[in-house]
Amino acid sequence: MLVQVLTLFPEMFSGVLGASILKRAQARGLLTVRVIDLRQFGIGRHRVCDDYPFGGGPGMVMRVDVVVPAVEWAMAQSEEPARLLWMSPQGRLLNQAWCRELAQSSHLILVAGHYEGIDQRAFEILGGEEVSIGNYVLTGGEIPAMVVLDAVARLIPGALGDAESARQDSFSEDWPLLEGPQYTRPSEYRGHRVPEVLLSGHHAKIAAWRREAGWRKTAMVRPDLLSSETSSSSPDTGGHSVIQGGNKE
Ligand code: ADE
Repeated sequence: MLVQVLTLFPEMFSGVLGASILKRAQARGLLTVRVIDLRQFGIGRHRVCDDYPFGGGPGMVMRVDVVVPAVEWAMAQSEEPARLLWMSPQGRLLNQAWCRELAQSSHLILVAGHYEGIDQRAFEILGGEEVSIGNYVLTGGEIPAMVVLDAVARLIPGALGDAESARQDSFSEDWPLLEGPQYTRPSEYRGHRVPEVLLSGHHAKIAAWRREAGWRKTAMVRPDLLSSETSSSSPDTGGHSVIQGGNKE
C-alpha cells in the first residue's frame, strides 16, 4: 500500500513512522509512506499556503490553488488510482469498518488541513471523502492522518505479528463490541488476583468468560454499541443472554 500524506508539518510524522507496527510494515515492504510538504506548492517567494476567508471571520483558509496542484501531483506519482481522504472535523466519523475497507486500497492520499479549513473548491474539483476521528477539534489534520494511517496499516495482511490479534480486537468483525480486561504475570499483586478462570487452561471457559467480560464492559461504557446494527447482526457473540445473565448476578 502506498500512502501519501500532504501536510504543512512533515516533521510531525517521523516519530510515528519510525516506530512499532508502522515501522515494521514499511520494513516488510507492505507499506510505503511518503510525506509531502504542502509548502512546496505554496504561492510566490514566501510559499504562501493560506489566505483570509471571503466574507470575513476568524482564522485562515488553505488556498485551493495550493492544495489542488499538490494533490494532483501526488496522484501522478502512482499508476494506482488513489482514494483521497481529507482530514476534517466536518467529516464522516472514522470507525473500524471503514478502516477495514481502506486497508483494501493500494493507494491512499491523506490531506492534513490546517487553519480554519480548506477552500471548498478543492473538494469540488478533486472529490474524495472527509474523515473525522472524533467529535472534537484538533489544531490540524496531522494527528488525524496518523490515526488513519495507524488504524489502517495494522489491518494490512502481514502487518501484525499475530494474525489473530486484529480479528480479536474491539470493533472487529468477529467482535463488534469492546474487549474485556487483559491480565499477565504476576497472578497476584497487592492482593489483586487475576480471575481464576484465566489460570484454568480451560479454553472454552476462558472464551466464554472473555465474551461476557466484553459484553459487561460494553454495557457499562458504550451501551450504544449494544443497540447498534453491528452488534445485533454480529456472529455468535454469545447473544444477549450473556449480558442479561451477567446483570442478574
Ligand atoms: N482536524 C481537526 N480536528 C479534526 C478531527 N476531529 N478529525 C479530523 N480532522 C481534524
